Amino acid sequence: MLTAGRAAIKYVTVPPREAAQFVSGKSVKSMNAPSTSHLLPTYARVDLAFERGEGAWLTATNGERYLDFTSGVAVNALGHGHPKLVAAISEQVGKLIHVSNLYRIPEAERLAARLCAASFADLVFFCNSGAEAMECAIKTARKFHAANGQPERFRIITFEGAFHGRTLATLAAGGQKKYLDGFGPVADGFDQMPFCDLAATKRAIGPATAAILIEPIMGEGGVRVVPPEFLRTLRSLCDEHGLLLIFDEVQTGVGRTGELFAYQRTGAVPDIMALAKALGGGFPLGACLATAAAGKGMTAGTHGSTFGGNPLAMAAAHAVLDVVLADGFLERVRHCGLLLKQKLAEMTDRFPRVVAEVRGEGLLVGLRAVVPNGELVDELRAEKLITVAAGDNVVRLLPPLIVSDTEIAEAAQRLERACIRLSERHARQQGRVG
Ligand SMILES: Cc1ncc(COP(=O)(O)O)c(C=O)c1O
Repeated sequence: MLTAGRAAIKYVTVPPREAAQFVSGKSVKSMNAPSTSHLLPTYARVDLAFERGEGAWLTATNGERYLDFTSGVAVNALGHGHPKLVAAISEQVGKLIHVSNLYRIPEAERLAARLCAASFADLVFFCNSGAEAMECAIKTARKFHAANGQPERFRIITFEGAFHGRTLATLAAGGQKKYLDGFGPVADGFDQMPFCDLAATKRAIGPATAAILIEPIMGEGGVRVVPPEFLRTLRSLCDEHGLLLIFDEVQTGVGRTGELFAYQRTGAVPDIMALAKALGGGFPLGACLATAAAGKGMTAGTHGSTFGGNPLAMAAAHAVLDVVLADGFLERVRHCGLLLKQKLAEMTDRFPRVVAEVRGEGLLVGLRAVVPNGELVDELRAEKLITVAAGDNVVRLLPPLIVSDTEIAEAAQRLERACIRLSERHARQQGRVG
């Protein structure tokens, strides 16, 4: 607080909550969430904070323990506090955190080589998030055609219900009105088709088409699995018309579906693929992978990222890959996925007023709700089970890939209790209406 003249400036440290009152003149309660009053309120946050995590468990600031079936939205693949990830990051922090891409980064070269050895790709660009990985994918596809002397081929076919990120280009690719509204003209160059509509896709291909972009499983869109035959048909269409096939594996990649990459169980191989989320196990990291042919336009100076591929992120990703690629790990993810789906299917049989359908692959599982999905998420949280809503009235269950059978059984019991309560509540409500 300034009391008098420059020499007498006196600062008072104001705790953030009170500062909010000073600034707005409103009560703290009338602002979004008291504990986040200085954060741009772009999230409708739950009034709950965590301070520790261990494996599939989170401990809240009030000491209560939650079973984490969200994993930071498909990020914490190794759960919380995995000793290999903690050791790798701790060791690297003391050695070197960041150097920029003006110099060679041996650990980035080695990580790129590992990702290429494990996939279709020959080239990798590292960045920091899923949206950035998708931006690179879009640019790579456009530049490919420009490098081939056809710069007019820049349009990309996408699908309704998709989510590719929150930058202006990735929002345009996702095409969701609710995210685009109010942000000015929508970036040009995306032609959106109804979900899995082959006839419309064929009709949309024209002289300006550069690529087809799809998530092999739509995560945010409601865990909608794209039939593998549709993906294979897209591959054939791309080959026939000289288009590039881009898979957004930001959510499905790095073991989530029980394969290292979801495309590996489909028989359809992309030219370009975006990764992020689980790749750093919680450390921010994205990657755009491409074949040598598809990446031919991305020469020196065409793209960049200050932080992308820094030694710390690379150390985290190497630790994640060490665990996920170890013998039997992905097999266990598949086993856990089946177990979880089996338990959830029992719930759809027993509580048809509450849940209707189980979807997904591996540990990317969706439960389509009959009641509003937000209500189910809230009831599950009351049972200390953390889940996350998705489109199409779906609740996503995304446990860390290291989840145990016992923890899956525990989650099922918590879900059962939530379903009993919701079932009774909705029966009572219907009774009142009827
Ligand atoms: C399939 C897909 N693509 C892209 C993104 C954007 O990733 P980020 O939030 O890291 O930018 C997401 C995020 O949920 C996603 O699920």
